[in-house]
Amino acid sequence: MKGLILSGGKGTRLYPLTYTRAKQLIPVANEPVLFRVIRAIRDAGIADIGIVVGDTEPEIREAVGDGTRWGVTITYIRQSAPAGLAHAVKESLPFIGDDRFVMFLGDNVIQGGISPLIRQFASSDWNSQIVLKQVPNPQQFGVAELNPDGSIKRLVEKPKQPPSDLALVGIYMFDHHVREAVHAIRPSFRGELEITDAIQWLVEQGYAVHPYIHRGWWIDTGKPVDMLTANDHVLEEVTPHIAGHVDEASKVDSRVTVEAGAQIINSVVRGPAIIGENARIVNSYVGPFTSLYHDVVVENSEIEHAIVLEHSKILHVGARIQDSLIGRNAVVTHTERKPRAIQFNLGDYSQIDLV
Ligand code: G1P
Repeated sequence: MKGLILSGGKGTRLYPLTYTRAKQLIPVANEPVLFRVIRAIRDAGIADIGIVVGDTEPEIREAVGDGTRWGVTITYIRQSAPAGLAHAVKESLPFIGDDRFVMFLGDNVIQGGISPLIRQFASSDWNSQIVLKQVPNPQQFGVAELNPDGSIKRLVEKPKQPPSDLALVGIYMFDHHVREAVHAIRPSFRGELEITDAIQWLVEQGYAVHPYIHRGWWIDTGKPVDMLTANDHVLEEVTPHIAGHVDEASKVDSRVTVEAGAQIINSVVRGPAIIGENARIVNSYVGPFTSLYHDVVVENSEIEHAIVLEHSKILHVGARIQDSLIGRNAVVTHTERKPRAIQFNLGDYSQIDLV
């Protein structure tokens, strides 16, 4: 069995962070979402993984490399245009050949433990397996309608009137029949070749498409708030460890990870939280559900429920920062300069909420 990860896409809803970085490389609990997806596929026993890339190919290649870090082989597949998930499959057919494969969207974050499901498909005689999840907003996803016996009746992409609350999670498994399906379908209302339509085609042709209903959490990380929610969930899963230095004046609770080279000086850190490599927390408070990536500095400040990317600095900020997503090399600071005013130097599409 092979793995296929879709990692094209511009991530426009995550601007400004994704102006300069592929959204799949934004870390959640200090691990890029894409790395988590690679691990999930590797843990299912798959060593041959294709990554479909678009304009952000160079940085994805640089971050992921050839896969040796995970003990897998990575093949990069350049999608000729962002023309839909089924289009990505079409262009990946030379890589996939006649093998069974799992396709994973590189921006989906799902509760750990999905690997047995993939293994199960590998040894089954189903032609496809899809993963469904009950959601409050099904019109934003592909939606499945099931028959009373639990089999699939119909799949529809982003329906205005959803026939159920079962969304298609971005994990799909196929055998070689998907080849016919992606050639048979036509572009959707949004001009894309939809994988939902390809699976619907398989259902109509009488192929065995098995629906699995996922009971754990699942986040499609489109917007900043989704990144924070994903971070909340993943932080709960992390097994904490202290590799960095915590001085005697500091209080670090048991659900906190302090990575190598990090220093916590005269500060309080409440978990679940993760302090990245070589970060420095001085005279500060870091509250629950916070991920500070490597080389972040927090001095004389308070931060909680936030993600801060590498090399950013939060210095002498009087108010507590919370519910925030801060990009790389950003500086948030307080000065005594007069007149008292707020001074910004913000990237395009930034958002600041002042109270
Ligand atoms: C895509 C699929 C949709 C699926 C979703 C899961 O949507 O088209 O069926 O429910 O991923 O993340 P998109 O992210 O392209 O809007």
